Amino acid sequence: MKNIYIIGIVCILCLIQGCSDITSNTAIGKTSNINKKVDSVLSLMTVKEKIGQLVQYNGSWDLTGPPSDVNSKEKFEKLRNGEIGSMLNVLTVDATREAQKAVMEHTRMKIPLIFAYDVIHGYKTMFPIPLGESASWDLEIMQKSAEISAKEAAAAGLHWTFSPMLDVSRDARWGRIMEGSGEDTYLTAQIGVAKVKGYQGDDLQSEYTIAACAKHFAGYGFGEAGRDYNTVNIGEYELHNIVLPPFKAAADAGVATFMNSFNEIDGIPSTANKMLQRGLLKGAWNWDGFMVSDWGSIQEMIAHGYAKDVKHAAELAINAGSDMDMESKAYESSLEILIEEGKVAIATIDDAVRRVLRIKFRLGLFEDPYKYCNNEREKTSIYTPENLAIARDVARKSIVLLKNENKVLPLKKQVKNIAVIGPLANDKDSPIGNWRAQGAANSAVSFLEGIENALHKKVPFEKGVDLSIGKRSFLSPMTFNTSDRSGIPAAVKLAKKSEVVLMVVGEDAFQSGEGRSQTNIGLVGLQQELIEEVYKVNQNIVLVLMNGRPLDISWHAANIPTILECWHLGSEAGNAIADVIFGDYNPSGKLPVSFPYTVGQEPLYYNQKNTGRPSNPSDVTYSHYNDAPKTALYPFGFGLSYTSFKYDNLNLSTASFSKNEAIVVTVDVTNTGEIGGEEVVQLYIRDLVGSITRPTKELKGFEKVFIDAGETKTISFTINEKTIEFYTANKLWEAESGEFNVFVGGNSVDLLEKDFNFTKI
Ligand code: BGC
Repeated sequence: MKNIYIIGIVCILCLIQGCSDITSNTAIGKTSNINKKVDSVLSLMTVKEKIGQLVQYNGSWDLTGPPSDVNSKEKFEKLRNGEIGSMLNVLTVDATREAQKAVMEHTRMKIPLIFAYDVIHGYKTMFPIPLGESASWDLEIMQKSAEISAKEAAAAGLHWTFSPMLDVSRDARWGRIMEGSGEDTYLTAQIGVAKVKGYQGDDLQSEYTIAACAKHFAGYGFGEAGRDYNTVNIGEYELHNIVLPPFKAAADAGVATFMNSFNEIDGIPSTANKMLQRGLLKGAWNWDGFMVSDWGSIQEMIAHGYAKDVKHAAELAINAGSDMDMESKAYESSLEILIEEGKVAIATIDDAVRRVLRIKFRLGLFEDPYKYCNNEREKTSIYTPENLAIARDVARKSIVLLKNENKVLPLKKQVKNIAVIGPLANDKDSPIGNWRAQGAANSAVSFLEGIENALHKKVPFEKGVDLSIGKRSFLSPMTFNTSDRSGIPAAVKLAKKSEVVLMVVGEDAFQSGEGRSQTNIGLVGLQQELIEEVYKVNQNIVLVLMNGRPLDISWHAANIPTILECWHLGSEAGNAIADVIFGDYNPSGKLPVSFPYTVGQEPLYYNQKNTGRPSNPSDVTYSHYNDAPKTALYPFGFGLSYTSFKYDNLNLSTASFSKNEAIVVTVDVTNTGEIGGEEVVQLYIRDLVGSITRPTKELKGFEKVFIDAGETKTISFTINEKTIEFYTANKLWEAESGEFNVFVGGNSVDLLEKDFNFTKI
């Protein structure tokens, strides 16, 4: 035993000092060097030590100090024994150092811990919730916000974020739709790659970058009826063509880790899905990072009715490729016995441990386990004015102007008699959104503050009603105000004497997010009543929406002249909205998700199939609703500007192409208004006949461009074989010969159209 210990120390020291065979700086060279180091560490480990690397524990002690309760003492004991390889929710330099010391100073192998945290839209500087930020369609700024989030998290001792969430979600009822990039596969993939690059940078070794995590693998956004954690029933082709591409893109971009999902797909919980985790991700995609289970998802397979007990669950999960156990306590209790019983091969354990060690090496933790522990940096580089300035920029780019009849917006700053009304107007907390990491409660610039900052004066305000009452937190159920109307008369009185009413309504921060599914996606509580009372005395309303999901705003779209979609925009929300309201920023956001006429249309998405009965004006026997349109109220890709854009001259370099050739698509976009503005030029295709049926439109490219007033820009896209590939009836990603439509425009409905042809020879 002692000998092994000495060899271990020598070996690890050698690795730490880099005296092993560093032969090359190329990516492949680096990987093969790391793999050699991983193997030499692995060869020294006992089975118990190996299992320890696959166990992740939640931290429950005070954020800034050593253990204070019995439970924490037990965890420290386990750390000292090498029974834990990773911790989540342990943050700050002092707390991570304390836990790391327990491992580095007491365990035989001295393998550093990796600290994880849900840094979903910022660490302390809060950016818009992911659904909101996705409305910017600005990949550069989204990469930047991830880079800043990583820097702040790394300054607090963290190595790893559980982000980006790549779950395509088409259902507004699902609370976690706020955490993704909406309904489209292509857009989600592009944003996912930008996020991975932002968090991980070019070099995971840098102390400013952290490991990213592509989650939730897979299908979590397709829970039946929008209910969280619910059963998913999607076919193989839907899975491959709609759900998986963003994950493939993240894997190709080198994302360090994946997380599996709570749901089952067609009878198999993802945690035990061998086809997904081993066959596809680690097999066909050749991805070499590690897979962490979702919180407790291993033992949840008992409730699913898939595992008979924890031991069985551990066996199913590890054999299917779930490498690290987050908080199920299944691996620590069962893996050793399962190995002894021959139900889990040691090679399976070795593969999982190798994957974990590889990422720890890539992060540089073996060289310096405390490299993220710098108290000075923690004090000076989190929540800085520079980071907040970028948060404001991201926030204003994420706002979507849905309606601007009579050009009420932008308001002149000289406007007299402006009124601010609504329960979210002076709410400094809801804009912080759910999944707020260290975003402090009540720390956002409220809407009212933003307006007052812009005007340099106090503005009359009445909240009218409260939205939610009682405790508000990540885990507490919400209670809405449905009875206290006492503030409505004062709001009506204020509206009556005002020229314009800025009405701020929507959703509480904790109304969307995990476990926050809803069957009603209208304005809850007494908000609608407030709007209608105000509307009776003053119709000149600018409706400012703050929400984490698409809402049913059909009454508002029909009655209110101006609607601004402002999501939960983060720390600088109020200032960013004021920038748009007063025209200091010309809105450029486009919806990443369809807004329905009614919740009954959900799941609603633009890239629907045609069906065998798309239309039949003469009778009712076609695919539609008797009582609502089948299209969106505000479609995917939609968003207005204070200027207008005209699309002309859609041109294809050739009308047909074959293998290894390409078509260049060009279009002229003219700013026909009075001021400069940004437009998101979108390219869609339709594959008219396929070996499986194809959607009526699919986004395949976009570009966000600034165009000056009166200026015309020619935008070009390239279509090649890759663009038209899909998972075909051959169960392969490939292009099929045939006819296609190509569409270009400023949203998924108003489009110019041409045709082309592809021949696969
Ligand atoms: C969520 C994950 C999250 C994990 C750790 C789970 O409940 O589904 O997305 O990363 O908790 O906080």
